[in-house]
Amino acid sequence: MIADVKKAELHCHIEGAASPELVKAQAVKYGADVSSFIAGDGYVWSDFTEFLHAYDGAAALFRSEEDYAALAQSYLEGIAAENAIYAEIFVSPDHALAAGLSPETYFNGLASGIGAARASSGIECRMIVVGIRHLGAEKVEAAARIAADRPHPLITGFGMAGEERFGRVSDFARAFDIARDAGLGITIHAGELDGADSVRNALDHVRPSRIGHGVRAIEDPDLVQRLAEEGVVLEVCPGSNLALQVFPDMATHPFDRLHRAGVKVTLSSDDPPHFHSSIAHEYKLAADAWGYDAAKLTGFTRTAIEAAFVDEPTRAILLGQLA
Ligand code: HPA
Ligand code: ZN
Repeated sequence: MIADVKKAELHCHIEGAASPELVKAQAVKYGADVSSFIAGDGYVWSDFTEFLHAYDGAAALFRSEEDYAALAQSYLEGIAAENAIYAEIFVSPDHALAAGLSPETYFNGLASGIGAARASSGIECRMIVVGIRHLGAEKVEAAARIAADRPHPLITGFGMAGEERFGRVSDFARAFDIARDAGLGITIHAGELDGADSVRNALDHVRPSRIGHGVRAIEDPDLVQRLAEEGVVLEVCPGSNLALQVFPDMATHPFDRLHRAGVKVTLSSDDPPHFHSSIAHEYKLAADAWGYDAAKLTGFTRTAIEAAFVDEPTRAILLGQLA
């Protein structure tokens, strides 16, 4: 049943989608040591700080346009094989620069991988530039300016990733103003590692149409009601929440409670190999926990397409594929 459901993924960090196998091949190519974050065929980390170390270590091994083309193509063809018809990937100019790549070369490499995957599988993809919160407001504003220059037509959104608990969200409001003024879609990580207040502050200071995670809004019934009333879409990543121990199990995960309260919810995999997940696995977690049938699951895909940062003709084609 899960395999037949058409899927859409709104929340996946492209460097976090690199399999340990691919990262080990990159390490051989560049003569690097990955033993501090890969053991055998898996990533090794035990908390968010160690996760970020593994994430940054893997990202540092993608150093050319071709490396990023191959990464995007392999990720997208992998999820297309799971019946995904649409994906948005978070792309980070700061990670490109740290690996010695210009943002332009990085975007071009990713775009050629996106084009190759589209040609082979039909999957559509757009890019969301993210600033990294724990690098500080200046870096996040620089990322916003890069995105606001509209360096590639497949870049349609701006967001903020990284450590949610770093600084105050108001410190980053200017970056989001820059991106919004440039016509980009807006999303922000909040309410995964930080509590309900982080979601409220994100709504107040950033005015996003979507929130990355947002699940800890469940701690505050008034906030849940506000999310429902304002139609803000949550990019929920249950596998990430379980791996980071935000909730102990799916029985206590708030996805279904948020949905029943009228909040628009979608399913995504965040950093799939780190969290032992994939887009199909996320749909299966939800179906197993709450008995969703194919029509219900397709409804979450429809919510995602409706909230996608994509042009209207493409949105109409994608919605048509769900009919
Ligand atoms: N959470 C926050 N920031 C991130 C993540 C994540 O899962 N992956 C890469 N940056
Ligand atoms: Zn994320």
